[in-house]
Amino acid sequence: MEKSSLPTPPANSNPRARALKKRILQCLMGVLPPMPKVVLKAQEIMSSPDSSLKELVRVIATDQAISVRVLKLANSAYYGLVGRVTSIGHASVLLGGKKMCEIVIMAGTSNLLGKTLKGYRLKSEDVWRHSLAVGIGSRLIANMKKPELVNDAFMAGLIHDCGKIMLDEHVLERMEEFEGLLKDGQQTFFEAEQKILGLDHSEIGFHVCKSWGIPDILTNAVRYHHYPSLSQGNVLSHIVHMADSMAIRSGIGTSFVGMPYQVDDKDMEVLGLQEDEVSGIMDQVVQAVEELAEKMRET
Ligand SMILES: [Fe+2]
Ligand SMILES: [Fe+2]
Repeated sequence: MEKSSLPTPPANSNPRARALKKRILQCLMGVLPPMPKVVLKAQEIMSSPDSSLKELVRVIATDQAISVRVLKLANSAYYGLVGRVTSIGHASVLLGGKKMCEIVIMAGTSNLLGKTLKGYRLKSEDVWRHSLAVGIGSRLIANMKKPELVNDAFMAGLIHDCGKIMLDEHVLERMEEFEGLLKDGQQTFFEAEQKILGLDHSEIGFHVCKSWGIPDILTNAVRYHHYPSLSQGNVLSHIVHMADSMAIRSGIGTSFVGMPYQVDDKDMEVLGLQEDEVSGIMDQVVQAVEELAEKMRET
């Protein structure tokens, strides 16, 4: 079920929700798990016009646990190198900087993002598959329509729902209230978050990204991934929104069956996408998630 008009992010007038929002934001720094430095550094290297593959390999080598995972992923069917590479240097020569950077981001965030979200009724594997689907979908859309954003698209898509990690316990504590609001299928989970908690997962996701030191363009894409038309021209937020709705339509990452997802009408127009292109991307995303999620289980 889709709605045609977009909401403006509401300033919640309920004093209880406002107080709760304040409390959630104050607690943020104390409970926020860190983003691995290797991920931030890899993203920075690949976003720089003078990015160097050597520098990327050197950075990966500083984190042993991530290096092991990177090598396993590089040897996956998805990257076409099954069993062929035994060193990060060799993998980087065969795959190139962009793919290596993507693998580092995946390897470095899978534990951080792939957490069970009891409040959202999502198992860790489903959370991770959804993140992966939106990361890959965002990269494919950018590749096709906005190549200048291709280096940022994967990471933005992968981390877009990071705010859910912070809100999960609050949702769980108020599950009855959420169920009451959602039972007639008229509201999105996102709207219920705003009403009950005083803020939604994109707003707290914005603060999470700021605390992690994520660049502004990605931080804003996370902030507006549910209402990109309000982003004042952040095309990346349109890309992530489109990839998010594709993942949901493909059944990757929904828990509350029949939950409406509010789609921004302008997205297709802003991105210049046609329906048949969307179907093609969705097929590629589903296949990629299968191949990568299976490999991630082994790492
Ligand atoms: Fe979201
Ligand atoms: Fe999402």
